[in-house]
Amino acid sequence: MVSPLRVGVAGLGTVGASVIRLLQRQDGALTARTGRAIRVTGVSARDKARERGLDLAGVRFFDDPIDLARSPDIDLFVELMGGDEGAARTAVEAALGAGKSVVTANKALLAKHGLALAALAEEKHVALAYEASVAGGIPIVKTLREGLAGNEITRVYGILNGTCNYILSRMELEGLSFEACLKDAQRLGYAEADPTFDIGGFDTAHKLAILASLAFGAKIDADAISIEGIEGVTLADLKAAEELGFRVKLLGVAQRTPHGVEQRVHPTMVRRTSSIAQVMGVLNAVTIDADAVKELTLVGPGAGGDATASAVVADIADIARGVRSQPFGLPMAQLSAARRPEMQRHEGGYYIRLAVHDRAGAFAAIAGRMAQRRISLESIMQKGLPEKGENGASSAVPVILITHATSEKLLREALDDIVSDGFLAEKPQVIRIERG
Ligand SMILES: NC(=O)c1ccc[n+]([C@@H]2O[C@H](COP(=O)([O-])OP(=O)(O)OC[C@H]3O[C@@H](n4cnc5c(N)ncnc54)[C@H](OP(=O)(O)O)[C@@H]3O)[C@@H](O)[C@H]2O)c1
Repeated sequence: MVSPLRVGVAGLGTVGASVIRLLQRQDGALTARTGRAIRVTGVSARDKARERGLDLAGVRFFDDPIDLARSPDIDLFVELMGGDEGAARTAVEAALGAGKSVVTANKALLAKHGLALAALAEEKHVALAYEASVAGGIPIVKTLREGLAGNEITRVYGILNGTCNYILSRMELEGLSFEACLKDAQRLGYAEADPTFDIGGFDTAHKLAILASLAFGAKIDADAISIEGIEGVTLADLKAAEELGFRVKLLGVAQRTPHGVEQRVHPTMVRRTSSIAQVMGVLNAVTIDADAVKELTLVGPGAGGDATASAVVADIADIARGVRSQPFGLPMAQLSAARRPEMQRHEGGYYIRLAVHDRAGAFAAIAGRMAQRRISLESIMQKGLPEKGENGASSAVPVILITHATSEKLLREALDDIVSDGFLAEKPQVIRIERG
């Protein structure tokens, strides 16, 4: 008879409490599937007295998660406290150092210290599992590392932040302002009081760093990502996107290029017919392009106690079975360095919205500046006639350009020239197009 796997859970919040309930609810099935009973023997949280609606009879409470991590009464340490430093980092290091496998849902910790933690896990011959850290309930880590082991992956991209997707979906479907949608997201608990981390693209970048490492065997490096958030996306852009057959999504994209792996997070125009464009509201989605499987899209809940616990429990079950995968799919010595962000080298199509003064020659001059840089235009759309301003002068005319694939460097140079020519009333709005 195999002895039970003894689990210590640090953090009894949204995810931690759901993990304990799920382990209890699926006890019999998990034992049958893994061939080993899974028992929570220790827990830690800041407040021992807080009522959490959990049955913790016979489970030892540790005031200090580091003591739990080192305890001889656990075989596996599950970190669900959060934060990229402090208790989470120290306790994970302590557990790995003591030769215990670790399961975590902490993308911030992995994006910052994943490389060092994975090296420690490798040295100690233990597992470092983190399925829940990217796209919540979607089993994307397993899909990339195991399910697609026979493929060469060329691109992985996704909607990795439910808050941003919720805001962009509501703006588009209901014509509401960014500020109104953000307020609703906060009221519904989708967005933090300080939403910068979500809407500025940083949360997406943490998750993308993990995906890029798994897909391309690169050393995890959040600093190698070019990041732009959704703050600048306007209703005018969403409306124009709809008319042109696009939708705007905040995507994290990692792509193999002749210059190395490009990693970027930015608002993106995607064709309305693509799989990823169908994903609305708080859902997450990841699309993978690979040589054998071609295109694969996974869609599901990216957050929430139960969905995230589903991924954490899957990792715990793997460890109960004795599975110990390389954290990033390769021996640490074989991981390559990530490329620094150089968006000037990016190649792709662009959506450009210009506010053009209603003056003779303006359109010809703009088209001429594009042609000088050999940028070919797929479409030009003038949005209505100029309105009369207060003093009777004509206001600017919105003009939308869609380019064929070109380099970002050439595009920025052409736009700089157009701005210098003095035909524009505002800074140009540029949104990259992702083929899908
Ligand atoms: N929530 C989601 O939908 C979701 C989705 C994917 C990934 N994640 C990740 O999962 C992790 C946990 O998130 P969560 O939403 O469950 O957070 P949460 O609800 O804020 O819970 C955090 C828990 O950690 C405990 N804790 C914090 N600092 C501690 C310390 N120094 N010592 C002991 N316990 C400590 C807290 O104790 P008290 O309860 O006593 O305060 C609480 O129980 C994070 O890394 C997050 O990024 C969350």
